[in-house]
Amino acid sequence: MDIKGKCVELITSELAMTREEVLALLEIPPKEDMGDLAMPCFKLAKVQRRAPQEIAKDFAERLRGKADFLENVVSEGPYVNFYYDKGIYAEMVFANAEKHAGKLLQHQPEKKEDLVLVEYSSPNIAKPFHIGHGFSTCLGDAIANMFEYLGYKVKRLNHLGDYGTQFGRLIYAWLAWGEEKALEEDAIKELTRVYIKFHEEAEKDEALYDKARAHFRHLENGEAVEYGLWQRFRDLSLQEFSKIYDRLKISFDSYNGESFYSDKIPQVVELLEEKKLLEKSEGAQVVNLDDYKLSPCIILKSDGSSIYATRDLAAILYRAETYDYQRNIYIVGREQKFHFQQCFAVLDRLDHPKKDKNVHVAFGHLHFGTESFSTRQGKIIRLEDLLDETLAQVKRVMKEGSFDMPEEEFDETAEAIAIATVKFLYLKSGRENDISFTWEEILDFNGDTAPYLLYAYARAKSVLRRAGIENLQNTQVGLLDSEEEFQVLKDLSALEGALKEALKAYEPSIFVRQIIRTVRNFNRFYQEKPILRADKEEVKLARLALCQLFSEQIKIALAILGIEVVERM
Ligand code: ARG
Repeated sequence: MDIKGKCVELITSELAMTREEVLALLEIPPKEDMGDLAMPCFKLAKVQRRAPQEIAKDFAERLRGKADFLENVVSEGPYVNFYYDKGIYAEMVFANAEKHAGKLLQHQPEKKEDLVLVEYSSPNIAKPFHIGHGFSTCLGDAIANMFEYLGYKVKRLNHLGDYGTQFGRLIYAWLAWGEEKALEEDAIKELTRVYIKFHEEAEKDEALYDKARAHFRHLENGEAVEYGLWQRFRDLSLQEFSKIYDRLKISFDSYNGESFYSDKIPQVVELLEEKKLLEKSEGAQVVNLDDYKLSPCIILKSDGSSIYATRDLAAILYRAETYDYQRNIYIVGREQKFHFQQCFAVLDRLDHPKKDKNVHVAFGHLHFGTESFSTRQGKIIRLEDLLDETLAQVKRVMKEGSFDMPEEEFDETAEAIAIATVKFLYLKSGRENDISFTWEEILDFNGDTAPYLLYAYARAKSVLRRAGIENLQNTQVGLLDSEEEFQVLKDLSALEGALKEALKAYEPSIFVRQIIRTVRNFNRFYQEKPILRADKEEVKLARLALCQLFSEQIKIALAILGIEVVERM
């Protein structure tokens, strides 16, 4: 049992309250000097018809000295404040660590059987993988990992943008202006070039649109030329995307994109017809969503072709048939809020069994404070360029510092720090906020940055290496009774709770904040308390054990966010 549980037990038995009553009252005080746990007495005052101050005073007196794990129990106004015995607290934390090896302290899995679908990344083929897709990719991966960590079954889905009338235009453009050699060298660059040219030329000659439409019809009918080209563009694009996924160490269970659902459109139409939900509007087939204060959702355009939303509806119906999911989560930019509202509203009108199980997790934009980067790359910033530039900047900073390591390790370390820096950037702030940053900020070794976190980890590992003691198992961790040590242990114990809270809001930044807090307090401990030069050997060992616990827990926490640590920095 953890110390809070023991407090609950004590209060329950001494004050004749039920466990539930006590649990509902207890809270963590806002300031450290107000104790480690507090019980406000306002609610009890109503029942007991006494002033809350009086109750608090009375309770504090009755509880004081009743348990060895409490250093003190004091009343402060209407609150009873509990102060833990720091040594006993330390012992309990380490016992908990042993019980949950490989997991965060206080680990308690949630619903094991529940299946959660997390759809993220979803770039568009033949188009650059930009930093917006980077956001979806890193955020989605962290959220999927968090579910998995808590024991859920997770499927990671990549809903590739690989279908739509724009492919008619792309095919026309490629046949007219494409260069084979350029395609082989950099497919996405060449396809983007001809696609832009199409729109320039079509301004002058509207007939191009008709020609493009004809190509799209051929593609829909599976004709050899069009289908072959589309297939090739898709393969080449996926090859490019895989390079990024490999670099980020991210993978998916399915790459079923929009094209996969293109032949499942008739089922959507049939179902909507059966429920009498389809209406004609200016030649198109739509579902009216007035009751939801939304504009109608187009299902089929006047030429009979499907749109983005139709394919998303087909995808939900398919997913519901294929997986018995408890949640289907879309990690997509906030500009598509309306699109998902429409899709979910159509499901509601269908009274679909999974109508309440779909969630859109939206995010904002990434902006650069440094002009040089954004102007050089043009308007769309590719994730690869962001990663490369971050890598160059990390190497510059490492060279300025005293990174004394063999070249290979230097390169690997720099790459790991660069990837961590970019991932962390996406996860650190509230996801719907826009993020604006400069290199100075994100590489600041003292700021709320990935390098700062990784450095603290590497520092703890370095002390352990220098100590050269393998086995810290029977250490007297009760000696960790200073304020600094106590704070680190408390922070570490709060990681699991922060993760759960974060997942409830699909907001990894809540978890990130607790990690940063923990690292800040570890650094304070590291600065204030001598470790290898501690006065006594037992104290040295206890502090080493704290370094070990800290490094283990931070490594696990960062791994859940998709961030790898480095052993030396
Ligand atoms: N491919 C889209 C884009 O790049 C994102 C797809 C989001 N997922 C979905 N099921 N609609 O904007």
